[in-house]
Amino acid sequence: MKIAIGCDHIVTDIKIKAAEFLKKQGHEVIDVGTYDFIRTHYPIYGRKVGKLVATGEADLGVCICGTGIGINNAAQKVKGVRAACVADVQTAVAAKENLNANVIGCGGRVIGIGSIEYILEAFLKAEYKPTPEKDALIAKIDGLIDDNDCIENDALFDEYLKKWEEGYYHD
Ligand code: RB5
Repeated sequence: MKIAIGCDHIVTDIKIKAAEFLKKQGHEVIDVGTYDFIRTHYPIYGRKVGKLVATGEADLGVCICGTGIGINNAAQKVKGVRAACVADVQTAVAAKENLNANVIGCGGRVIGIGSIEYILEAFLKAEYKPTPEKDALIAKIDGLIDDNDCIENDALFDEYLKKWEEGYYHD
């Protein structure tokens, strides 16, 4: 399977370990960054993962930040993405079986790489169990973002990145 993975600077080490784990399981991994511990902006990487999944360039996505909340919210804003931010195996499996989630996310600071490995393995093994009701609910969720709501602007974060380069942020 082709899996896109992204993170913010808080959990780059954990993202690298998660990517290695996925590769060992035989998956092809597209690491969209960030690649170091320099302060950055997690919506950039959530959006990158989401776009790869929504366009079919990746089969599934993995989004990790400190809590998992920020980066998965960003991925969720890409039309076609159904992201689940989870902290346990049961919820990860339910996300695939019931929602056909195509992005799984975790808080690297909250649960650590051990739990993340179990979660990824279970999520990848689980399969969507379709019913007419689930199909209808998923169609409704997907329909909440229409084509006109989706910002197709890859320069979206340029202004903020420029400000970082200029030393505008001090934390
Ligand atoms: C740090 O930027 C932290 O806010 C981030 O990693 C994440 O926890 C946000 O949801």
